[in-house]
Amino acid sequence: RPKAKRIDGKKIAEDVRGEVKEMVSELKSSHGVVPGLAVILVGSRKDSQSYVRNKKKAAAEVGFHSIDVDLPDTVTQEALLLEVKKLNEDPSVHAILVQLPLPSHIDEATVLESIAVEKDADGFSALNIGNLCLKGGSPPMAVPCTPAGCIELLQRSGVDVSGKDTVVLGRSNIVGMPVAALLQSMNATVTVCHSRTKDVEAKIRQADILIAALGKAEYVRGSWLKPGCVVIDVGINAKDDATKKLGYRLVGDVHFEEAEQVASLITPVPGGVGPMTIAMLLRNTLQLCRLSIG
Ligand code: GUN
Repeated sequence: RPKAKRIDGKKIAEDVRGEVKEMVSELKSSHGVVPGLAVILVGSRKDSQSYVRNKKKAAAEVGFHSIDVDLPDTVTQEALLLEVKKLNEDPSVHAILVQLPLPSHIDEATVLESIAVEKDADGFSALNIGNLCLKGGSPPMAVPCTPAGCIELLQRSGVDVSGKDTVVLGRSNIVGMPVAALLQSMNATVTVCHSRTKDVEAKIRQADILIAALGKAEYVRGSWLKPGCVVIDVGINAKDDATKKLGYRLVGDVHFEEAEQVASLITPVPGGVGPMTIAMLLRNTLQLCRLSIG
């Protein structure tokens, strides 16, 4: 069979960002409002610093007002909650993001719940997640960015998920759980696999669509896949590689070179889901700003 087509996340993310940029300038002229995104970074994790740098840069590029709050590893939960409270009360701020993970002495759920639901840029609050999972109620004000990015990649690649057998690897609050809820809401049949799942390989073999978000380098082998399936690889893992300048290269949760021989469509790492997370954050911020205008 021919090699899988690559889903170009970088290009699709650029398209989304261009759309957001256009809508931001319309909003400025029609309402005189500039969407404001506040990004809170706690500590000095290199990966988090890099994600936050990219988020702020993208926010500036589409014309958002951006507010940076950098706090040390040692910040108390009380001090962090106070920062969130200030941003909740600041009318120039329409969306607040707290970069995860937080240091272990801080309770993540308490911090996420302290963000005003109408400013919840990541859609991580209990109310937004609840509305994502409930049928027939009010829609969430924002949908978690990486899951929304996965769905956007499928839609813009012409993949109809309705009625498809879909396997999600991983059940995290950030990716696995919400992406499973989104797929189910779009009438996919969803199997969520995790560390206690029996015979993951057999489940993967049934999948028309595989979403891999378990965080293990090249875990999924090509021989496990159903021929012609669609693979969305959320993993970003460093793998030792002496031929690279930094001594490593980034790989996904799926063994790409094997999988592209079997799948029909596949996202590369990097350049697949990664760029979409930021594009969806921009879209969420714009959406929250619009909702605030009424
Ligand atoms: N850490 C890893 N992914 C994310 C994300 O989508 N949002 C936030 N806030 N933190 C993250």
